[in-house]
Amino acid sequence: MSLKPDQNHDPNHDSSSRPTPLSPAQAADLQQRAIAVAYHAYAPYSHFRVGAAVLLTDGTIVTGCNVENASYRLTVCAEQAAIATAVSLHGPGIRIRAIAVANLNDTASQPCGACRQTIHEFSTPDTIVFFPGEKGAIAQTTIDKLLPAAFQLITEN
Ligand code: THU
Repeated sequence: MSLKPDQNHDPNHDSSSRPTPLSPAQAADLQQRAIAVAYHAYAPYSHFRVGAAVLLTDGTIVTGCNVENASYRLTVCAEQAAIATAVSLHGPGIRIRAIAVANLNDTASQPCGACRQTIHEFSTPDTIVFFPGEKGAIAQTTIDKLLPAAFQLITEN
């Protein structure tokens, strides 16, 4: 095993082609989609219904919700469901421009640690994360701020 620069987070990466921030309309649309898919959540144990909408760098949007299980640890978070679906539909080369996470419980909530790692796997240096903030506000940050020391596995070949 050796250390190589992370291709997605290469500090020498040409930043001139970085995407511009989402427009207010784009951000609102992503948020609405996250809320809409949260109604599909299977959350009979926590009653915490979560939705995630992923905007890929090619402009495609993919959504997912949390799917719980009687064996609690088998629960799939909304972010993970959305990203797994995005890979299934669009292949392993996807990159996330932005992800919106919403819940139907009117409470502030940030992506859990596992979801941060999952988002990071398909992120760019600019991937934006929207999440429910305090008092109903929609908070915004980047995945690199949420997970500044992400685990990376660099293998030979
Ligand atoms: N959950 C998510 O879907 N995403 C997160 O980032 C945190 C937690 C779900 C998992 C579980 O179904 C419920 O919220 C309560 O933890």
